[in-house]
Amino acid sequence: MDGNGRWAKKRFLPRIAGHRRGVEAVRAMIKACVDLGVEYLTLFAFSSENWRRPAEEVSLLMQLFVRALEQEVARLHENQIRLRVIGDLSRFEPKLVTLIQQAEALTCNNTRLTLTIAANYGGRWDILQATHRLLADKPDLATSFTEDELTPYLSMSYTREPDLFIRTGGEQRISNFLLWQLAYTELYFTDTLWPDFDAKALNHAVHSYQQRERRFGRTSEQLRESLGSRASAPGGGPPDA
Ligand code: IPE
Ligand code: MG
Repeated sequence: MDGNGRWAKKRFLPRIAGHRRGVEAVRAMIKACVDLGVEYLTLFAFSSENWRRPAEEVSLLMQLFVRALEQEVARLHENQIRLRVIGDLSRFEPKLVTLIQQAEALTCNNTRLTLTIAANYGGRWDILQATHRLLADKPDLATSFTEDELTPYLSMSYTREPDLFIRTGGEQRISNFLLWQLAYTELYFTDTLWPDFDAKALNHAVHSYQQRERRFGRTSEQLRESLGSRASAPGGGPPDA
């Protein structure tokens, strides 16, 4: 979700006004995804690198996160949305961590949409923490382990790999988001700033996705031959997407 600051600047508003509009865009996006039948929506809200921003902006972002949890979780639950937060929570205030844990516990059995918020998340951090936890559990794997042994320890082991990655705000990079999981994901970049990214913009992205041919390393001919049965990625990639 990129472009909140520029959205505000264009309107001679403080950056935080852009972040507030960003939260409204999140609300609208959740609804748009529910309407489309999307089962998993993962939002990159705050990266491990975002701590480098001015202290005031970081503090205002944290307040916004706390307030959003306080105000929105009941509504998420009413709408049968499961909330998960991934990332290194150890740097967050205890109050925020408690709110996150309560929200996850309250919504854990909801099945309509899983909304994952990546907060203090980094793709490299994720791979490292997974490796550390795997080796703590199974020290005998220290000299060698397989992808299938590692993936249950990654932050998003509860879902399939993503079908579509969308980055708003004009930059064309992954910026340390789900590095492992994006291996076969279709990438979509748009100049639209996050606060302006609405249901119509989402439809554009989905339409672009629908034009793509997902080969997972195979040839087009092989895909056509196996028409009817689904193409699956090597190494247990998106299995039943
Ligand atoms: C994204 O918007 C929101 C967060 C990273 C929290 P930015 O704050 O990066 O907005 P720009 O890139 O300055 O426009
Ligand atoms: Mg930015």
